[in-house]
Amino acid sequence: MSRSAHPAGPRHADVLTEGHYSAPPADLNSLDQKVWSRTVTRTEDGEVAVGGIEVSRLAEEFGTPAYFLDEADFRARCRAWADAFGRDADVFYAGKAFLSRAVVRWLHEEGLNLDVCSGTELATALDAGMPAERIAFHGNNKSEAEIRRAVEAGVGRIVLDSFQEIVRVAHIARELGKVQKAFIRVTVGVEAHTHEFIATAHEDQKFGIALAGGQAAEAVRRALKLDGLELTGIHSHIGSQIFDMAGFEVSARRVVQLLAEVRDEHGVELPEIDLGGGLGIAYTSDDDPREPHEIAKALSEIVTRECDAAGLRAPRISVEPGRAIVGPTAFTLYEVGTIKPLEGLRTYVSVDGGMSDNIRTALYDAEYSVALVSRTSDAEPMLVRVVGKHCESGDIVVSDAFLPADLAPGDLIAVPATGAYCRSMASNYNHALRPPVVAVRDGSARVIVRRETEEDLLRLDVG
Ligand code: LLP
Repeated sequence: MSRSAHPAGPRHADVLTEGHYSAPPADLNSLDQKVWSRTVTRTEDGEVAVGGIEVSRLAEEFGTPAYFLDEADFRARCRAWADAFGRDADVFYAGKAFLSRAVVRWLHEEGLNLDVCSGTELATALDAGMPAERIAFHGNNKSEAEIRRAVEAGVGRIVLDSFQEIVRVAHIARELGKVQKAFIRVTVGVEAHTHEFIATAHEDQKFGIALAGGQAAEAVRRALKLDGLELTGIHSHIGSQIFDMAGFEVSARRVVQLLAEVRDEHGVELPEIDLGGGLGIAYTSDDDPREPHEIAKALSEIVTRECDAAGLRAPRISVEPGRAIVGPTAFTLYEVGTIKPLEGLRTYVSVDGGMSDNIRTALYDAEYSVALVSRTSDAEPMLVRVVGKHCESGDIVVSDAFLPADLAPGDLIAVPATGAYCRSMASNYNHALRPPVVAVRDGSARVIVRRETEEDLLRLDVG
């Protein structure tokens, strides 16, 4: 099992003494291409550069902490997913991982579709020019206003998540004189091997309608009866940061079984299935993610086999990768502030950000890598914990890693693979100002989401 997907990682009190680090890497200056985005290199003078720009220049121009997003890598990953799935399948980028107008434009240009899960994600997508028919709208508790906006805009599909929602969407579509294409999200009863909070296909959780006990079949029955709805497919998302294809296999099999039941009962062959997102990425050198073409091949083989066995025409497949596209494309750049060696334990390295720009370590015991990027060093490896500046001892960015023992205040360090679920889950805890996202490509860098300012925060405070 991947270390970064450990479902029951040690709690913070334990890691103080136990840790779960491996041996120091042979060369602290080398950059493992598995965890860094494609255009990241170490230049001859020892600095790290992305898109041809050294980190010291980036820090000077944009400040720290900041996320630097490798646009060429992002586009290449979009193309890899689109090519792997080909013409007979659809790739929806999951906007929750990270969404901005620039990202929407890149997706559009690279031919991807977009999954949104709130009215404001939808607004961002539409504002940046994503055609509505290429948008899928998700969520377990969409408001009537959100549903109305999605139906009015003409989104390509709404993924229905409850019995109430089936009725609500049908009603709103009828009121607007439309017929809304919809999927039903089912829970297939798979225990995905990932952290409990990001596993979504076991039955005891809030998403979807269970296949078990005939609930999903009943949902289909109701949806097929309602004017205003055109049920086009079944959706299943089993969780996130998953490496093992076995869960997807079970999920695909059970979804196809439901299609066969629907055909037998209603004489209708639903034309599409969506197998969700959830593919894992490398946060540390110990993680071994799969390539999109392997995933595409595995999924289409399973679906074809199961459909042949059930005598069904193979449905069109869609997938919704978020992390696997944007996760590896960015790193967070921090400046080292204080350094506190704790005798017999480890050295605490404090940076100018923390849990406000990366909550994943505190929330899921996620593991990250870190490197000194403003220079090389031949000093001995030192076991460190990279922590933020927030008023909480759980404010950990990287729990266990090695940095050179001559690390000093003012050095720049970077945490790779922070493109997904970091800026999108950032907070203003301790009135932190959320960092900018800077896109870097071919020697030029531009802010795509600007840094928050004190004025931004004070403007909200109207008391
Ligand atoms: N489709 C649906 C319906 C989803 O709920 C999700 C993620 C995705 C696609 C995209 O999953 P991905 O390919 O990015 O794994 N905040 C957590 C992850 C939560 C994922 C929620 N849903 C984290 O930082 O690990």
